[in-house]
Amino acid sequence: MKRYVILISGRGSNMEAILAADLPGRCAAVVSNRPGAAGLAYAAARGVATAVVDHKAHADRAAFDAALAAEIDRHAPDLVVLAGFMRVLGDDFVRRYDGRLVNIHPSLLPSFPGLHTHAAALAAGVKLHGATVHFVTPSLDCGPIIIQGAVPVLAGDTADVLAARVLAQEHVIYPQAVRWFLEGRLRLANGCVRLDGDATAPGALVAPTG
Ligand code: GRF
Repeated sequence: MKRYVILISGRGSNMEAILAADLPGRCAAVVSNRPGAAGLAYAAARGVATAVVDHKAHADRAAFDAALAAEIDRHAPDLVVLAGFMRVLGDDFVRRYDGRLVNIHPSLLPSFPGLHTHAAALAAGVKLHGATVHFVTPSLDCGPIIIQGAVPVLAGDTADVLAARVLAQEHVIYPQAVRWFLEGRLRLANGCVRLDGDATAPGALVAPTG
């Protein structure tokens, strides 16, 4: 059975969705860079090991990345899942986990990388918005796309209302992507996403529901 580690910084609702999805793998640990991350309590209550690697306790990014990698490697994971992890990771860290590091970003990449994606989507007037699960590569919010979930942008939406609609899709697509990986069907090959034996092609748009 494959093992995975989840990295969080705060609320941890994507982590909850993954832990609740009864996936065919073992969550070896949830690691936060913030001691007060709400998601830590949920993970502990489920009997998952938790750890904090506080970025404020390290002199620079390289030192933080090294401490984080040391904590992750103690659990020998097959997959590292960034779930609302709000620190930029250095290139060395990203390369260390090449092909086994995934992230969720709250937009239909490559549109709206970075922060404040929902406000940016409203300002741009897009009619479809959503979220993307991707393998992590050294460039921020860029990397081979595994799956996307789309939602409509509706008249009168505020950034918060739109964020909630997108988050519901995140909770569908992230467990799905992690499941594919744990089943041994999803991999990165020469920089491209490969998914074995599923009618749903990688990068498929999950249609809005409801
Ligand atoms: C999500 O919107 C995720 O896409 C983004 O940060 C948010 C984290 O939410 N990267 P949660 O901590 O999983 O509830």
